[in-house]
Amino acid sequence: MKELSQLISSIPASVTLAVNDKAKALQAAGHDVIALAGGDPDFDTPPHITAAALAAIENGATHYPAPMKGIVPLLEAIADKLARDNNIHIDPKTDVVVTPGGKWALNLALSALLNPGDEVLYLEPVWVSYPPVIMLAGGMPVPVSLPSEDNFRITADALRAKITPRTKALMVTNPSNPTGRVVTKEELDAIVEVAIEADLYVISDEIYEKLVFDGRPHYSIAAAPGMAERTLTIDGMSKAYAMTGWRLGWIAGPTPILKLVARMNSQTVSSAANFTMHAAVAALNGPQDIIAEMRDSYQARRDFMVKAMNEIDGVEVRSIEGAFYLFPRFPNSEKNSLELSEALLDKAGIAGTPGIAFGSSGEGHVRFSIATAMSELERAVERLEKFAHEL
Ligand SMILES: Cc1ncc(COP(=O)(O)O)c(C=O)c1O
Repeated sequence: MKELSQLISSIPASVTLAVNDKAKALQAAGHDVIALAGGDPDFDTPPHITAAALAAIENGATHYPAPMKGIVPLLEAIADKLARDNNIHIDPKTDVVVTPGGKWALNLALSALLNPGDEVLYLEPVWVSYPPVIMLAGGMPVPVSLPSEDNFRITADALRAKITPRTKALMVTNPSNPTGRVVTKEELDAIVEVAIEADLYVISDEIYEKLVFDGRPHYSIAAAPGMAERTLTIDGMSKAYAMTGWRLGWIAGPTPILKLVARMNSQTVSSAANFTMHAAVAALNGPQDIIAEMRDSYQARRDFMVKAMNEIDGVEVRSIEGAFYLFPRFPNSEKNSLELSEALLDKAGIAGTPGIAFGSSGEGHVRFSIATAMSELERAVERLEKFAHEL
């Protein structure tokens, strides 16, 4: 048989999903596993959103949507949301495309920007999918390692050190998965300064935008002066509205880029699901207090977990500013993060994602999702207390 794709063969499978699958298989075999590896909110999608989808199905929204890049009420709802929440001003007719999930929006962004061999900077620790999606679009992933000792701070110097004549774009996740950091004004200024100086496009992944704690501000990069023409903003329903299974995201940005994005979308997935778009309209235009309530629950879980885990000898965890992942270290352990997450699963029955999955600056850490019921988190702490000395 002839050789299969070298490109796809060179791309690693998602470690997050692999750990999740292993934990689920153990659970199915009757083991008591606490699953903290995934990134799926434990809340149900709010009922008014589900009701809108059911009504849309009954009203015939079961055909191809028109336009394929998003029904007009949704394109307008996204433009209104961007103006209201993010101070980003776009034309809903030309500057936004609805996608089946934020992950596909990232793929579209890279495909529209890159030519073979173009380098794309990303901040490490990084969400597991960034390097593969850069490669799939023909680009070269280039990590900008942010040191754990400096609380993963973004500096202009760290970015500049990786710029070459081939650097085309920079990817930023804000808030960050896996570190839980939220970009400060100082970090925003560093990103803007380097992007303009080196003439970079910026892909700003704001999928966790609504999950920012302690009343901290969230800065959208496209709203900064000089950035609208070079920034693609990625967002979606998955995390804020507990809608991971609905598969709905979007990409917004400059008209010429969005023209290519729409072309690529139409020649690949065609569109997101029609009735899901109607659900998204209800979500974006409806009451928003529901997402603040979910955010407050994550914040309370963070407070509980950070305090309880830091009281355990051999466990160290920083408080997080946003998203729903803790990124603890186990300073007394000689194990690397893969061995640590295996030991956590085997000895304590806790499934967490090894830090190395997020790049070399994640080594020594394990990622725990707190999008998990408080009762499960309490059980996880009890088990950590019991087994930390065995790690
Ligand atoms: C940083 C980041 N970006 C994008 C996504 C994609 O989300 P979705 O495709 O479910 O909208 C995720 C999901 O885990 C994520 O963590």
